[in-house]
Amino acid sequence: MGVVVKGLGASLPEKILTNQDLEKMVDTSDEWITTRTGIKTRRISKKDEPSSKFAIEAGRMAIEDAGMKPSDIDVVIVATVTPDMMFPSTGCIVASELGMGETPAFDISAGCSGFLYAMNIADSFIRAGKYSTALIIGVEELSKITDWTDRSTCVLFGDGAGAAVLTRSEEEGILSIEIRSDGSKGELLYMPAGGSRMPASEYTVKNRLHYVKMNGREVFKYAVTKMPAISKEALEKAGVSVDQVDLFIPHQANQRITESTGERLGIDPSRVFSNIAKYGNTSAASIPIAWWEAYKEGKIKEGDIILLAAFGAGFTWGAAVVKWRRK
Ligand code: COA
Repeated sequence: MGVVVKGLGASLPEKILTNQDLEKMVDTSDEWITTRTGIKTRRISKKDEPSSKFAIEAGRMAIEDAGMKPSDIDVVIVATVTPDMMFPSTGCIVASELGMGETPAFDISAGCSGFLYAMNIADSFIRAGKYSTALIIGVEELSKITDWTDRSTCVLFGDGAGAAVLTRSEEEGILSIEIRSDGSKGELLYMPAGGSRMPASEYTVKNRLHYVKMNGREVFKYAVTKMPAISKEALEKAGVSVDQVDLFIPHQANQRITESTGERLGIDPSRVFSNIAKYGNTSAASIPIAWWEAYKEGKIKEGDIILLAAFGAGFTWGAAVVKWRRK
């Protein structure tokens, strides 16, 4: 028995924010953003568009793409650090809006590695025989926790959602998944206020503590070492060599991180997928959005080996090796 990825979907806000727009908001330039990050534009949700809006759309697409109905889904897992609310979970909202009755649904928080964490949970549920089919969604509205006066972070992030349907199969599709964490590095990338450690107050609002705080240089250093290392572990567990990887889809954080990871792994740039120029860093949504785009652009063929890798807040990181089986 194996687990295959049967359907993919993605949904993005309409509004496009360009580097030129950002030049008018903070002391930055298109040239700086492009050379340091590779980002040109990002999508930004409207005030009245919560994360669930895009999660529902991406989830519906993935179910249709899998040739299934919402009633075929046994469990919904949403990876996000920007849920609609602290509770109820965005997973419950999605399951209800998609008409899934009493299907179990929940959120997980693993930063930009969230999609791979969700995939690991869904894969384990299915292999254990608990459920047959899972809908996993990565959704993020980082624009709503971004400090638009902080040029060191506001140029990086964007909003969107991506989803996948995983189902039991006689064939093996998910060949390996490895995930890790190191909570001692938490404060290198975090949102200090709004939780039980620092509940919302006049002080936290005045001091802009409900926004992303990041030590970009340190995050960069860890990302470019941890992502290649865990990718190698996942490839080894899958019994797949780097040469056999048809497409590498890394978390889209920074074009320099993507290139460095590809180089350290020895994967030719032609086999490394990037769409960061269009969407920026959409955190937990970035891998499924990129995967969906690569698939729509015809860059993935039946039987192809895909390597996924992510790094994010926590710190968390992970990698997965997937054989593309749609038939
Ligand atoms: N526009 C212009 N200048 C900027 C700027 C901006 N948007 N943001 C920072 N700068 C300035 C800094 O103030 C600094 O100036 P100084 O030398 O006078 O102090 C200079 O540019 C260099 O800053 P530095 O932070 O060293 O740049 P960098 O090359 O490390 O690039 C990041 C910054 C954020 C792009 C990079 O560190 C990065 O991508 N890190 C990883 C972030 C990430 O992926 N986070 C999510 C993980 S999932």
